[in-house]
Amino acid sequence: MELAAVGQGARAFLYMERYVIEGAKTYSPLASRTEAAVRYQPENEAPSFGLVTVCAPRDRVSLFQADPVPGLLRHFVRPEGVLFPVHPATWRNDAAEGIEDIRALPPSTPIQVAPTASTRTVLALEQLQGVPDHYIKLHYPVRISRFNRELRLKNIHNSVAVCSDLAHVLFDSFAYLPDSLGVALGAGGRAWGFLVREARARPFVAGRFLIPCFALYAGDLKHPESPPLLVQMIARLGVDPVPFVIDRVLGPIVACWATVARERGILLESHAQNTLIEVDRDMVPRRVVHRDLDVWIDPGARRRAGLAMPFLGRGMAADTDEEVQGHYSLVYDQFLGHHFFDYVLVILKGYYGADEELVRARVREIFRRFFPDADRLFPAGTMFKFRNGAPPDSKATLEDMRQAPGWR
Ligand SMILES: Nc1ncnc2c1ncn2[C@@H]1O[C@H](COP(=O)(O)OP(=O)(O)OP(=O)(O)O)[C@@H](O)[C@H]1O
Ligand SMILES: [Mg+2]
Repeated sequence: MELAAVGQGARAFLYMERYVIEGAKTYSPLASRTEAAVRYQPENEAPSFGLVTVCAPRDRVSLFQADPVPGLLRHFVRPEGVLFPVHPATWRNDAAEGIEDIRALPPSTPIQVAPTASTRTVLALEQLQGVPDHYIKLHYPVRISRFNRELRLKNIHNSVAVCSDLAHVLFDSFAYLPDSLGVALGAGGRAWGFLVREARARPFVAGRFLIPCFALYAGDLKHPESPPLLVQMIARLGVDPVPFVIDRVLGPIVACWATVARERGILLESHAQNTLIEVDRDMVPRRVVHRDLDVWIDPGARRRAGLAMPFLGRGMAADTDEEVQGHYSLVYDQFLGHHFFDYVLVILKGYYGADEELVRARVREIFRRFFPDADRLFPAGTMFKFRNGAPPDSKATLEDMRQAPGWR
């Protein structure tokens, strides 16, 4: 793909989400594994598929809101009931909890969508007048990479609560895609539903375009000869590669992550699928846009900052300092460092002969500047990662790698 195409908007964006991903899912033995049917995987050829929708009575749903744009709220919450989309694979899945009840609700018009890189979050394609562009994040209870992709009431509640909370983060390079509306059918812990994610970043700045971070370094499945977008960007802007990547990409990602973690106790999972680089019309990176707000919260950090815990569940559910440290390390050292920065490093070394130690040292400096008290929260001299072979869905089963952290 040509970098200039980024300025064409939605079509180019979807192309990156689906096809500029070659070689990006190698960060763990489970990263490229998926139980989603081929036709629903992002890399497949079909331009779209239809979500099944039903009209759910208002008194049977739990509704969560973080200041959704009125056009979207009106689109989903209608006088006759709530528009409730279901992934077609989930609709056909007799094992999906409560699916018979949902099938019995009055049908509504299907929604044509295209998958994004996460598979279970899809872009709504045909917008009715007055309905702003949006994504729908769905309950898709099959294993995609490491986890079973359920979307339970707790995930929905917490995503929307985090969305509200992030409105308090005022940091130049920070923005997010708001999961501003959530619906679960029923009210119990097993209830599941969907999230509506606005396509417009908050805070909004006009004349900007998004590049999913993995597309900066991944190959283009349909045009293997295309140089990575990051390489095209460096050439187009005529910049010195290492300072550019530190100042415009890695540095802002570390600064945003540390600021949100320290100020709000929210551990954004800023890996390359959950972060997007916002560029201006000249393709100059301006901000980091974050998505996927179903993340760990550190209750200790919230308490110290004098903030409430409007989230369901036990936050990080860590009882000991060691467990807290394991979580911080997993998110920063693995999700940002290993799943993302390591790939950028490969480009910097391979294309420009960059000095690996110098790149790491610059990032470490930025990390220390934005997280001066990190020693209290991170394990000294080692990193934690998911234990491979651990029981599925046990998000907290971590193992000490006994290896020095390379990015802090
Ligand atoms: N470079 C990448 N790094 C991490 N995950 C990736 C990458 N490319 C694709 N993915 C896919 O994206 C998903 C990441 O999981 P994660 O929990 O962040 O997302 P999600 O909650 O399913 O959806 P969303 O990010 O849309 O809210 C996985 O399905 C994984 O296979
Ligand atoms: Mg994600």
